[in-house]
Amino acid sequence: MSQAPVGVFDSGVGGLSVLREIQARLPDESLLYVADSGHVPYGEKSPEFIRERSQKIAEFLLGQGAKALVLACNTATAAAVADLRERYPELPIVGMEPAVKPAAAATRSGVVGVLATTGTLKSAKFAALLDRFASDVRVITQPCPGLVEQVEAGELDGPHTRELLRGWVEPLLAEGCDTLILGCTHYPFIKPLLRELVPESVRLVDTGAAVARHLQSLLEQRRLLASGPAAPVRFWSSGDAAAMQAVLPKLLSELAQVRPLCV
Ligand code: DGL
Repeated sequence: MSQAPVGVFDSGVGGLSVLREIQARLPDESLLYVADSGHVPYGEKSPEFIRERSQKIAEFLLGQGAKALVLACNTATAAAVADLRERYPELPIVGMEPAVKPAAAATRSGVVGVLATTGTLKSAKFAALLDRFASDVRVITQPCPGLVEQVEAGELDGPHTRELLRGWVEPLLAEGCDTLILGCTHYPFIKPLLRELVPESVRLVDTGAAVARHLQSLLEQRRLLASGPAAPVRFWSSGDAAAMQAVLPKLLSELAQVRPLCV
């Protein structure tokens, strides 16, 4: 048993979609959250840059006493999870990747769309994922430049967000796509809008709940589960902490202080 917190991080507020799944599944765990908002979006940055940022943030979270790390970011996982596991071989580290396996199992039309960042879609990890699980289905990938910025600004359903999404989703539907993977942790926040733009029959698949289950099993295996009560979540941002604090209630229904992070 360990009352130490779990450290969660993302390039920005997207990882909060994972944090809320962890809170729902593991309500006794105390959580730390770092948004690397000073460097968002990661999607267009080099893997080397993302690895460097991930190392700095991991060090910070470990300095705050984290007993485990969750990379609540597909792009950072593709670039940095192997490196972090090498550096901290004893530490439970949970990464995430687009839900290709469940989507390939679920599709009836045989056409699956993946909405994700350029960094994720270009990564060797994603190519390996397709090789492994998608040989029997057609996968159409769609980068979504600009969407992360809309979520960061709390613009979850405004006209510009709607137009961006429509432009990406309509061609996928025209190709017969019946299953859409939300391969970036920012995107679950625009799920209600997406639901308006695609027919009821189209499945929207994301990975947050699976990440929370995986974290639970790693903590269980190592006897690190907390017994509660959880401390309030502590938030940091490497960018505009006040802006993140203002957007938090929209994303998490939670008011909390966001501290500046200087790493
Ligand atoms: N939320 C992140 C992901 O899951 C990265 C978004 C970005 O910063 O480009 O990929």
